[in-house]
Amino acid sequence: MIKVFSPSTVANVGCGYDVLGFALDGIGEEMIVSKREDGQLVIDEIIGFDLPKDPKVNTATVAAQALLDDAGSKQGFSFTITKTINPGSGMGTSASSSAGAVFAVNELLGRPFTVDQLVTFAMEGEKAVSKKAHADNVAPNLLGGFTLVRSYEPLDILTLPVPDELWVTLVHPQVEVKTTDAKKILKKQVDLAVAVQQWGNVGGLVSGLYESDYDLIGRSMVDVIVEPIRKILIPLYDEVKAQAIAEGALGCSIAGSGPSIFAFSRGEETASRIKSLMQSRYDEAGVLAYTYRSRIGKSGVREIK
Ligand code: HSE
Repeated sequence: MIKVFSPSTVANVGCGYDVLGFALDGIGEEMIVSKREDGQLVIDEIIGFDLPKDPKVNTATVAAQALLDDAGSKQGFSFTITKTINPGSGMGTSASSSAGAVFAVNELLGRPFTVDQLVTFAMEGEKAVSKKAHADNVAPNLLGGFTLVRSYEPLDILTLPVPDELWVTLVHPQVEVKTTDAKKILKKQVDLAVAVQQWGNVGGLVSGLYESDYDLIGRSMVDVIVEPIRKILIPLYDEVKAQAIAEGALGCSIAGSGPSIFAFSRGEETASRIKSLMQSRYDEAGVLAYTYRSRIGKSGVREIK
């Protein structure tokens, strides 16, 4: 038996649609996995939210099955999952389950796969919920910190440095945005001039992380491709973003496919002020919302006692 903690993650990070992501620190879900004799994958219990226990549907078992198929293993496993963040939040909840499951199963099998290989299995869980096997949540989930998917074919994932004073604030207004829908509304083609702006910002953000250049991180958090389309799905988006920036956020954008919004700050104090501000604005508007504040999580999924 093993108990693991699998962090929540934020994909895209503004300009890096489907390629950039980072893990949160101490915010995520727990999973207990144990071997069983009958060769089945069974979800015994999901605590916190009403999610499918069908092993062909739940991302944890879909990802675990992908690993077992590749290993040629007929070993069975039982799963108990404790979720803390609502599904459809944009905080990588499906990825937390996929990554947690493959990590745990790999440990119980005696580690036949490297962490990089686990990313490909966890991506199968993402495919089950969003029709596309994107890696920008599961990569930081498994590897921790910031990650960049330099290439999908072949898969090439880079880990990026985490500046010490970088904090993140998140607000999750309680409207559900399905990743499949949020992907469907995007345009399939991008103007060259727009693409130029976007890849300039991706390069700037990566450089900002390497240099711990907080201003550069902030001014690179500009998304001219995805944010203008997806923000219409998020109540009060423009207003909350403008308030966060006015309060000292380095930058602010949509977490993953939304509806959560995240803001980067230099230091805990600004991050906490922005958290209160975001909470008050949604409270005033009568929209139920949950807020979080965290450092960037340097470790990915891990065993806990
Ligand atoms: N990169 C994916 C998207 C992340 O934006 O659709 C989904 O959480």
